[in-house]
Amino acid sequence: MSDHPGSDRPIEIVPSVLPADLARLGEEVAALEAAGVDRIQWDVMDGRFVPNLTFGPDVIAACRPHATVRFEAHLMVEAPEDLAARYVEAGCDLLIVHAESTRHLHRTLGAVRELGAGAAVALNPATPATAVAHVLDLVEMVLVMTVNPGFGGQDYLASMEPKVAEVRRMVLDGGHDVDLEVDGGIGPSTVQGAAAAGANILVAGSALYRDSGGLAHAVGELRELAEATRR
Ligand code: DX5
Repeated sequence: MSDHPGSDRPIEIVPSVLPADLARLGEEVAALEAAGVDRIQWDVMDGRFVPNLTFGPDVIAACRPHATVRFEAHLMVEAPEDLAARYVEAGCDLLIVHAESTRHLHRTLGAVRELGAGAAVALNPATPATAVAHVLDLVEMVLVMTVNPGFGGQDYLASMEPKVAEVRRMVLDGGHDVDLEVDGGIGPSTVQGAAAAGANILVAGSALYRDSGGLAHAVGELRELAEATRR
């Protein structure tokens, strides 16, 4: 095993559903699974925490029977504690709570676990890594945003790579069993920077759907590029 930070964690490629054909979401979710993704991320936006509005729990519940991979809900909402149970009932296996979105982060992550779901914490670009230092024992994953949340198709912030490395170091030094995800602007030209910094779960939206070779080609290429950073 290389001494690459995070090389003990399997690489996962995760699609953001935002760029999919929203008129055929069930089929799109099945197509993503067939393309070899490891899980599916639902970008949940409430128009308050971020200036955009997306998927309610009923939409996700309708799509749940169309795929067997894990569903993670990236909750870009104010007061996620008020909505968590609805998203778990809808079939989400993992809820990602933003550190900036709730007054009592430790309590909210505990509440998500009590609902029987996995818990994860996300950091906006301006939020320091230390914001998660005291909840690493509660989560299975930390998400370092590599764009300011709210929209797909934005440019990747390479300036977040030192924060990815810092979180990876905190996880390793604390002996925590925690994955590290990045999200925003991930594509063939940026995935290696994020993986080399210590991320093992890579979320991509527009890069998957704009690949002329199709979804399976796009997923395979991102996985190959990310894994190459560990050799
Ligand atoms: C942005 C979302 C991301 C975004 C990713 O707020 O959290 O998941 O949809 O899309 P791309 O890969 O196009 O940046």
